[in-house]
Amino acid sequence: MKPTPSTFPRPDGSSREPDPDTAGAAPLLSVRDLVKTFPGRRTLGRPAAPVRAVDGVDLDLAAGETLGLVGESGCGKSTTGRMLVRLLEPTSGTVEFGGRDITRLSQRRMRPVRRDLQIVFQDPHASLNPRQTVARIIAEPLLVQGTPAPAARARAAELLDLVGLRAEHLDRHPHQFSGGQAQRVGIARALATAPRLIVADEPVSALDVSVQAQVVNLMERLRRELGLALLFIAHDLSVVRRVCDRVAVMYLGRVVEIGDKHEVYDRPAHPYTRALLSAVPLPDPAAERRRERILLLGDPPSPASPPSGCGFHPRCPKAQAVCRTERPPLDAVGAAGRRAACHFPETG
Ligand SMILES: Nc1ncnc2c1ncn2[C@@H]1O[C@H](COP(=O)(O)OP(=O)(O)OP(=O)(O)O)[C@@H](O)[C@H]1O
Ligand code: SF4
Ligand SMILES: [Mg+2]
Repeated sequence: MKPTPSTFPRPDGSSREPDPDTAGAAPLLSVRDLVKTFPGRRTLGRPAAPVRAVDGVDLDLAAGETLGLVGESGCGKSTTGRMLVRLLEPTSGTVEFGGRDITRLSQRRMRPVRRDLQIVFQDPHASLNPRQTVARIIAEPLLVQGTPAPAARARAAELLDLVGLRAEHLDRHPHQFSGGQAQRVGIARALATAPRLIVADEPVSALDVSVQAQVVNLMERLRRELGLALLFIAHDLSVVRRVCDRVAVMYLGRVVEIGDKHEVYDRPAHPYTRALLSAVPLPDPAAERRRERILLLGDPPSPASPPSGCGFHPRCPKAQAVCRTERPPLDAVGAAGRRAACHFPETG
C-alpha cells in the first residue's frame, strides 16, 4: 500500500488519522468579523484612503470539508486565505482553528499549529524557492517541526510519489518542471506535515488548461483519501461545483452568501450570486439558449471607497432605498447553514 501523509509519524512521534466525518460537530475553522486594511498608496504626494481589502468576513469550515471561496478579482479572497494561515496579520476579527483562537499567537506558538494548517499558492514557479532543490522545498516544513534531515528527505520522496512525481526528481530545481509538475511539488510540500486544513489559493489558474483538470483531480483524490479540509479559492465556478461541498461568495471584502453548493448553485439567494452563476456556460446547448443572463453594470467599486449600505447596491438590479443606507447582515436564509447578506434575498 502506498504511504499516505496521514499515517506518517510526525516529528513528535504521533501520527494523524484522517479526520472523521464530522457533520454537525464544532467547526475546524471558525472566522468571525475578519478585517484587513492596507494603507492606501500615496498619489502625487498625498496619502490615499486606506484599502479595506477584507471587510468583516465570517465563515466556518468543518473537518474533512471542502469550502469553495469565489468572487471577482480584487474582492479579497487571497487576503482572507493568507490571514487564515497567518501569513498576513488581521487588522481585527478572530480566527479559531481546532477550537483555539490563533489570531494573535506569536510565531513560536504558531509553529505547532502550522503543521495542521498549510497553503498552496496560485503560481508554483513564483512561490517555490528557485535556488532550492525539490527535496529541500518539500522537506522544509518538516525540518521546521524538528524532523531529522535524512527522515525528512525520505518523506519528501514518498510525497513525490503520492503526487505523481518520481524520487529521481528530488534533486531538481523548480525551473526544471512544467507548471503542472511544479504545482504537484507545491501540493507535496503542503502535505508534508499531514495537515488538517489546506488553503489552496487558485491552485490551477496559472496552469495550462490541459493540466488544470489533472491537478484538480489530484487535489480532490488526496483530500478524500487523507480526510483533509480544504478552502478552495477559485474563479472557475464549474470547478468549485465539482470539487466543493459548500461555497462562499465574496463581494467587496465580505461573504455575501454561503451554503451547501447544491442550494447555492440551484437556488442562489443573493443577487450577486445569481449574476455570477448566470455567466457560467451550461453543458446543454438548449439549456444555455433558454437561460437568463444577468449583466452587472460597471466594475466592482474600489475597496478604498466602498459604497454606503450594501456594497453591491450600485450594481444590483433589485436595489431599494434601504440598500443605500443599511448594510445587510449575513443572515440565515432557507435551508440549515445557508446564509445571505441581502435585505431582499430570493427564497424560492
Ligand atoms: N499589500 C497590499 N497593499 C495594498 N492593497 C492590497 C494589498 N494586497 C491586496 N490589496 C488590495 O486588496 C484588495 C483585495 O485583494 P486580493 O488579492 O485579496 O483579491 P483577490 O480576490 O484574491 O483577487 P484575485 O482574484 O485577482 O486574486 C484589492 O483591491 C487589492 O488591490
Ligand atoms: S441588499 Fe439590496 S442592493 Fe444589496 S444585494 Fe440585496 S437587494 Fe441588492
Ligand atoms: Mg487572489
